[in-house]
Amino acid sequence: MTTIGEAWRLARQRIDRLDARLLVEHVASCSHADLLAHAGRPLSALQVRQLEALVQRRARGEPLAYLVGSVGFYGREFRVTADVLVPRPETELLLELALERLRALHDPAVADLGTGCGVLAVSLKCRFPQARVVAVDLSPAALVVARMNAALHGVTIRFLEGDWYGPLGAERFDLIVANPPYVAMSDPHLESGGLPFEPRMALTDGVAGGDGLDCTRVIVGGAAMHLLPGGWLLIEHGHDQGVAVRQLLQDAGLTGMATWPDLAGIDRVSAARFPVSRNRESQQDDFFLQPHEL
Ligand SMILES: C[S@@+](CC[C@H](N)C(=O)[O-])C[C@H]1O[C@@H](n2cnc3c(N)ncnc32)[C@H](O)[C@@H]1O
Repeated sequence: MTTIGEAWRLARQRIDRLDARLLVEHVASCSHADLLAHAGRPLSALQVRQLEALVQRRARGEPLAYLVGSVGFYGREFRVTADVLVPRPETELLLELALERLRALHDPAVADLGTGCGVLAVSLKCRFPQARVVAVDLSPAALVVARMNAALHGVTIRFLEGDWYGPLGAERFDLIVANPPYVAMSDPHLESGGLPFEPRMALTDGVAGGDGLDCTRVIVGGAAMHLLPGGWLLIEHGHDQGVAVRQLLQDAGLTGMATWPDLAGIDRVSAARFPVSRNRESQQDDFFLQPHEL
């Protein structure tokens, strides 16, 4: 007979201590408090086998979120499967910048390009229920997960399958958010950590020998055709892509380019807006999080 406490001790000899604890709690369907208070409770033979298999997968590098089937993002729990990128904490910066901008609008039209499991679209809609949110992804399997998360959080979002702006026709938005694949194909990180387990199309643009910015070029290049006057494009990018992305934003005829660092101090999100008409030029941006000095 293996108790919960023994299972935890054995698991943490092979994987990270916290991961071991979370896997034991997952298999035993118990909270951390239960684990501590009832460490002598026996696990069934099935639970022991399940834990063994999960510990083995974790030891091989598979992301914990795939093993337990969910991940926390900005205070909410989201379902994830191997069909979607595991949402990263850095992306919470993109969400915060988007939330700041939506605060000033009444019933904004919002597009989330490359929605994955839907973290951005669902989080925005939960916070601003009056927003009309559309979420696009090329992966039908990712959209299944995103729809599940919208249902889980009780929000209605228009999900569309297709290539970036393709399914949106001539629609225009007050805010476009995008966390596109931006890792260059030659980046060795693609073969390390948990990345080999995540969908390739969520990580890279698939262009051999490229700089990883092909999807970003399409998204930035199409923004002027899909933003309302004064509307914002907020886009996540790699640590060394800030300068290139701001140049793309400028080339696309957008104004007020800015880049924000994530909590690690790494350039992570850039933004710009479709020029406002003369009578709205006085709109103040002072209440926004201050970007880098450019
Ligand atoms: C980096 S993931 C972002 C997922 C999610 N928005 C997040 O922040 O966690 C990029 C997403 O873009 C999607 N994608 C890749 N190429 C696409 C394309 N051509 N058109 C639309 N979506 C695409 C991928 O399927 C993936 O879900």
